[in-house]
Amino acid sequence: MAARMDVLLGAQWGDEGKGKVVDVIAPQYEVIARFQGGPNAGHTLIFEGHKHVLHTIPSGVFREGTINLVGNGVVIDPIIFLKELKALDDAGVDVRPTLLVSRRAHLILPTHRALDAASEAEKGKAKIGSTLKGIGPTYMDKTGRNGLRVGDLERHDLMDRYTVLKRKHERLLAMYGQPGVDAQAEAEWLDAARTLRELQLVDSEHYLDQALRQGKRVLAEGAQGTLLDIDFGTYPFVTSSNTICAGASTGLGVAPNRIGAVTGIFKAYCTRVGSGPFPTELEDDMGEQIRKAGHEFGSTTGRARRCGWLDLPALHYAVMINGITELAMMKADVLNGLDTVRICTGYKVNGTYTERMPYDITTGVEPMYEDMPGWGELHHEAPLPAALERYMARIEQAVGVPITLVSLGPDRAQTVLRKGALVH
Ligand code: GDP
Ligand code: IMO
Ligand code: MG
Repeated sequence: MAARMDVLLGAQWGDEGKGKVVDVIAPQYEVIARFQGGPNAGHTLIFEGHKHVLHTIPSGVFREGTINLVGNGVVIDPIIFLKELKALDDAGVDVRPTLLVSRRAHLILPTHRALDAASEAEKGKAKIGSTLKGIGPTYMDKTGRNGLRVGDLERHDLMDRYTVLKRKHERLLAMYGQPGVDAQAEAEWLDAARTLRELQLVDSEHYLDQALRQGKRVLAEGAQGTLLDIDFGTYPFVTSSNTICAGASTGLGVAPNRIGAVTGIFKAYCTRVGSGPFPTELEDDMGEQIRKAGHEFGSTTGRARRCGWLDLPALHYAVMINGITELAMMKADVLNGLDTVRICTGYKVNGTYTERMPYDITTGVEPMYEDMPGWGELHHEAPLPAALERYMARIEQAVGVPITLVSLGPDRAQTVLRKGALVH
């Protein structure tokens, strides 16, 4: 019987711990498929004393026999891609036999990165806080119908197409008063692109259709998070792709009616990196304490992440937009030992109480909190403390979806499955 494709995605502002959970549940799947984003993502996996950070390559690579597919919705920087492959080689994992790359995925050129930097510099104080990986300009060329795709690497006129796009970028860079990219950077990119061409390039929509027809279990892995979605995030402080569940359909070519379980990953608190509104942000000692305890520094850029209390209206919004069927709560251990844990249950927007995420949360939004008793230390072998169970029950009651996985530390082993729902 044909199988459904499950989806795993971020329910906050990214960095929720998607990489860890994909690695934990990957043995249940035959295929892990990344559906959007690019090297702006940093997905961290920790096991057997080693830490691995993946940017473009799906987080199933450490599970033997799993196929890892980079979907059409992803944007690829060949240089970063090869660095990731090299890091995996160094870790003793030859991913090439099980790594598939969609011909429809778009390529990030060195000039896209230069444009990203130029655009941010031009915005000054209003900058997005982009990771400067060229993500926005690459998706702009995709929707503007100017992009270069992985499949173009197989064409005889690749260099002509590359040159046309580069020239367009040079004209734009000149408009910003910025130079083009030097010959060495270009040569490095072209070399990396040629190596990328030697990987297994596939028509991934057909591959996935076949896999699902054969009853194979497929998990779609998201990048970023719902509140960074181009349509439903805190625009314009968002990324340039659809990070939501619908993005798994367009980013992989799998029809919506073939989607099964949708797992939303969230932290027991909130973080955000880069600019943009963040109603529950803690700009005090408490925020600093969470940042320290949670090692809240970007996996891709090393920037300090902004920290705040859990925001239920935002989480509820993510459940609605994505059709989340189950939740995974990460980093509960970071709040260990607090007497009181706060939870935002609603907002006052210009004086009126609401539990609904408004159109604009930039100004006039005051978070309303409920205080809950904290918990002590957590051990994954032991039953979860009653205070933590009550915290989770409050969340489940507010958003109407069960928390089926709780993460109590960064290691693969520090994971508790509840109600068994993630083990299909
Ligand atoms: P992703 O982008 O969603 O994959 O998340 P990141 O890897 O960028 O950030 C999550 C960070 O939290 C990483 O450093 C993980 O190793 C770490 N992490 C994941 N789960 C837990 C947890 O339950 N507790 C703690 N303390 N750290 C965790
Ligand atoms: P993962 O997959 C957290 C943020 C950037 C910036 C905005 C736009 O690891 O969760 P971009 O480079 O996409 O143009 O940046 O989005 N951002 C992320 N924040 N986690 C990520 O990915 C992110 N990818 C982009 O900080 O605010
Ligand atoms: Mg990350």
